[in-house]
Amino acid sequence: MVTGANSGIGLATARGLVQADWTAVMLCRSAERGTAAQSLIEQETGRCPQLVLGDLADPASIRRAAGEIMQAHPRVDALINNAGVYLPRRMESVDGLEMTFAVNHLGAFRLTLALEPALLPGCRVINVSSLAHRGGRMDWSDLQRERRRYWGYLAYGDSKLCNVLFTRELARRWADRGVSAHAVHPGVIASGFGQDEPGFFNRLYRLGAPLLGSPEGGAATSIHVATSDEGGRLTGKYWSGQRVRRPSRAALNVADAGRLWELSLALRG
Ligand SMILES: NC(=O)c1ccc[n+]([C@@H]2O[C@H](COP(=O)([O-])OP(=O)(O)OC[C@H]3O[C@@H](n4cnc5c(N)ncnc54)[C@H](OP(=O)(O)O)[C@@H]3O)[C@@H](O)[C@H]2O)c1
Repeated sequence: MVTGANSGIGLATARGLVQADWTAVMLCRSAERGTAAQSLIEQETGRCPQLVLGDLADPASIRRAAGEIMQAHPRVDALINNAGVYLPRRMESVDGLEMTFAVNHLGAFRLTLALEPALLPGCRVINVSSLAHRGGRMDWSDLQRERRRYWGYLAYGDSKLCNVLFTRELARRWADRGVSAHAVHPGVIASGFGQDEPGFFNRLYRLGAPLLGSPEGGAATSIHVATSDEGGRLTGKYWSGQRVRRPSRAALNVADAGRLWELSLALRG
């Protein structure tokens, strides 16, 4: 199960899993873009992944999508929380939360908990974070960025730090159930990420274009964690380049990981 599977790294991840003979489910927010990606994978592999529509900024939409997924698949072997946004201007989700936090962290949190009955022993939850988590910090007094001036790349870094903290707390809480949790930095990838909007990523990716990796390269670590023996054996780790790496100090803060879990539960609705 791959979120944000209609483009970039998510599309390459869904395609890679289909090529490895997995039954893939793509969660996308747009029927048009989702259907186009589904047809592309079918043309390329001869196998058609399932498409489920869902908007990760909308709790009701997440619940609906999770219900649909569990009806078709009582067991999900790997949940890859890949969808993400970079927003140069502050926006809010339907329930009034800052949109980068709402999609990149809370969307993944809500979907994971909504799918809990299908996440059985052996399941791997993979949260696509970023190297940008290293610039993140948890400002508990203003997590929704209502008081501070909004900077898109700072909100993005914070949300990616949340991905690693969520991973570590999920690993701790669900260890007894045999479910493992992983955070992944996919690499710096030419996917079109943040390119629709002017701003930090647009400039960075235009300047660095020759050095960027391919979406397939970006999918490799998530696919490795989903399919390898070590992905099933280890939990709570941060991966990059198909290897376990040390995340930032802030990402190792156990108290913050617990606090983020409690806050996310309260915000989950
Ligand atoms: N590219 C990089 O260099 C890089 C580096 C580090 C980490 N990452 C992470 O990798 C992940 C994938 O990014 P990408 O590079 O492949 O970018 P991308 O091509 O822009 O893909 C992002 C995906 O997320 C989906 N999405 C956004 N908001 C959503 C919502 N509210 N509900 C459901 N889906 C939503 C998008 O759908 P739409 O097409 O409908 O917008 C799209 O399918 C992200 O989490 C990103 O933070 C990327």
